[in-house]
Amino acid sequence: MVGGMGVNISTAELALEASRLGGIGHISDAMNPFVSDKKFHTKFTKTKSAIHRSSRDSLDKTTVKFDPEELRKSQLRVVRSVMDQKTGDGAIFINVMEKLNMAAPGETLRARLAAALEGGIDGVTLSAGLHNSSLKLIEDQPRFRDVKIGIIVSSVRALKIFLRTAGRVRRLPDYVIVEGPLAGGHLGFGDDWREYDLRDIVIEVLDFLKKEELNIPVLPAGGIFTGTDAVEYLQLGAAAVQLATRFTVTEECGLPDKAKQSFYRSEEKDVFVSSLSPTGYPLRLLRSSPCIGSNIKPQCEPFGYILNRDGTCAYIDAYEATGVDAKGKKLPVKDKVCLCYHFSKYNAYTCGHYVYRLKDTSRKLPNGEYQLLTAEHVFKDYQFNTEHKIGLPAEPAGQPAKVG
Ligand SMILES: Cc1cc2nc3c(=O)[nH]c(=O)nc-3n(C[C@H](O)[C@H](O)[C@H](O)COP(=O)(O)O)c2cc1C
Repeated sequence: MVGGMGVNISTAELALEASRLGGIGHISDAMNPFVSDKKFHTKFTKTKSAIHRSSRDSLDKTTVKFDPEELRKSQLRVVRSVMDQKTGDGAIFINVMEKLNMAAPGETLRARLAAALEGGIDGVTLSAGLHNSSLKLIEDQPRFRDVKIGIIVSSVRALKIFLRTAGRVRRLPDYVIVEGPLAGGHLGFGDDWREYDLRDIVIEVLDFLKKEELNIPVLPAGGIFTGTDAVEYLQLGAAAVQLATRFTVTEECGLPDKAKQSFYRSEEKDVFVSSLSPTGYPLRLLRSSPCIGSNIKPQCEPFGYILNRDGTCAYIDAYEATGVDAKGKKLPVKDKVCLCYHFSKYNAYTCGHYVYRLKDTSRKLPNGEYQLLTAEHVFKDYQFNTEHKIGLPAEPAGQPAKVG
């Protein structure tokens, strides 16, 4: 399974390749009105921005809201487009983060989930939150009992909470992804993330499910870098694995080439777990992320995906608390980043801990850059390479390349 990477980092193209090859690919549901605009030249972002024009010069964002019908339309557009192109024996799921409050948490989450089902998605992976009421929100949807639904947890405790609420709608999850502390994106751990180990949590989850006689497939995620790593989890009792970082340097991945090359060049010391995300969850980033120290004005009128119900966002607070220099120019905002704006520009280089090993998966070209891979190459490398070996891609035609 290739994990969801927002915003449009796990593209339709990447998900389609995973499905074609018999795996499961994910698109992300993060900022899909914006993603639809970029891909299909719709005007969801512009329209929303124009409606909320009046708060642009103020830090009071209480009136900035999403129109659920517009959300439905944009989600449908994105989901239908990928499902129409699907081939192969695999499946295409959507990653839906609860933590995107979008100024009206329940209402916007319902619109996004319902439209994903309506658009024919094969499965929904609930992430970034406990999802206490997410199933209830879509209980009345016609495909509620047919579509696959899974959740990402980082502890048995979180799984137990979800199972309790799932029991209330008599709808157990079809799979559980257990994400450890080495994953990319937001982490389900606190500052003490180093004290946790994916293997231990997976064993705990498997033991718990066995004890409860629940036959739910478990997929570990976070730091599974070689096919052998994956096999070790399968031998423990996992049904499959979820992977992401190794696919970030593929041609199909949505990151700009500049970011892909930064991923390749990174060293272990360049990776850190930051508190810069206004969501409150730790976010693993490269130190070279262009978003760090930016002082961009909060961009809630076009975006506003992180806004709480009452119109607040930790970035707005951090922005407000940041002073100006002698010339009256805003100083860098140190504590938080405007996640919406910077994800829209691919300025936040989130990555898994082992990003610095990507250089061992490719070749350095004469111009100093690393060769991009195909998703098929990475997928098959996981499937067929043994003894922790990683296969290099074929040399690009006409270019002698040295191993990176
Ligand atoms: C660039 C990037 C973006 C990610 N974005 C999301 C996301 O939007 N939602 C989510 O649930 N997980 C996200 N993740 C986590 C992955 O889906 C996956 O579970 C995890 O990174 C697997 O570990 P690995 O990267 O070491 O293979 C992201 C990971 C990366 C590398």
